[in-house]
Amino acid sequence: MLKIEHRTVTAMQPLHTSVLLNEAVAALVRSPGGSYIDATAGAGGHSLALLQAAGPTARLLALDADPYALALTASRLAAVADQVTLRETNFRELAAVAAEAGFDDVDGILMDLGISSMQLDVEERGFSFRDTGPLEMTFAPEQALDAATIVNEWAEADIADAIYRYGEEPGSRRIARAIVAARPITSPVALAEVVQRALGGRRGKTHPATRTFQALRMAVNDELGALREALPQAMGLLRPGGRLAVITFHSLEDRIVKDYFDTESRDCICPPELPVCQCSHRATLTKATRRAVPPSAEEQRSNPRSRSAKLRVAERR
Ligand SMILES: C[S@@+](CC[C@H](N)C(=O)[O-])C[C@H]1O[C@@H](n2cnc3c(N)ncnc32)[C@H](O)[C@@H]1O
Repeated sequence: MLKIEHRTVTAMQPLHTSVLLNEAVAALVRSPGGSYIDATAGAGGHSLALLQAAGPTARLLALDADPYALALTASRLAAVADQVTLRETNFRELAAVAAEAGFDDVDGILMDLGISSMQLDVEERGFSFRDTGPLEMTFAPEQALDAATIVNEWAEADIADAIYRYGEEPGSRRIARAIVAARPITSPVALAEVVQRALGGRRGKTHPATRTFQALRMAVNDELGALREALPQAMGLLRPGGRLAVITFHSLEDRIVKDYFDTESRDCICPPELPVCQCSHRATLTKATRRAVPPSAEEQRSNPRSRSAKLRVAERR
């Protein structure tokens, strides 16, 4: 049994099922040994598989912004603890943390974005619309901006924009109006009710607040901003031939990864109308996946959470 602050995890609670596990590990580990970074350790599923594939001489730096997730990783990797370095950090600090830990010339880096099913199902951190606790939704508990601040203090138009942008929610304006009218909203379950009422009740299997909760979580943690900052840092930590694998769950995340890989795989990024190159840009990577790799039909059947996942891999030149 694992105890972190007021939370207790028992062996009965379900562990997160790692998405695109075999595909990501096969893309990253191509010879025994070497050093790897798992920038989103979560429940340690990918971390463990990376070490099993790379063997007993490999080393791994496992990061997570969420101390609870990192403690789960530590417990999952206990048998290979001598190969593992753990750091509680946001991956926007990737370059500095990796350098300090001696992982600045690595063979592979994995980013498996978003949240894990334990964060959603087990924790009382406000990620799920069933939670009765505080409206947090932060990866790092000490973070200043939380969902309660957005819901109770932001202007109606800004709330609507965030819900529309990150949640692709067509009813964003109606929801924002209802949120402002219902202030103060203090728990996820109360927020979920406000959203459900604003959208006119429940239809189908998916809870009507799903898109709103996803949007608030992405805004609270500035998830797209962190990804944009981390990609060049990750590339800078790879040795030539080393690989970066990114698993995304949202079209905006995938767009950021795709655009970064497209730009960084080109020698010139001048606008096409310029007759002579003026940018002096040089390609830093080669794309190892031509298109985004989806989970197999079998994985999508057995793990519905995997359905929106996409894997892209790039190799450092
Ligand atoms: C999908 S889960 C990873 C699951 C993991 N690959 C496994 O197999 O168990 C994503 C994890 O990334 C963490 N995370 C998300 N954004 C982060 C960021 N910017 N910095 C550090 N960790 C982050 C979350 O706290 C969560 O634990």
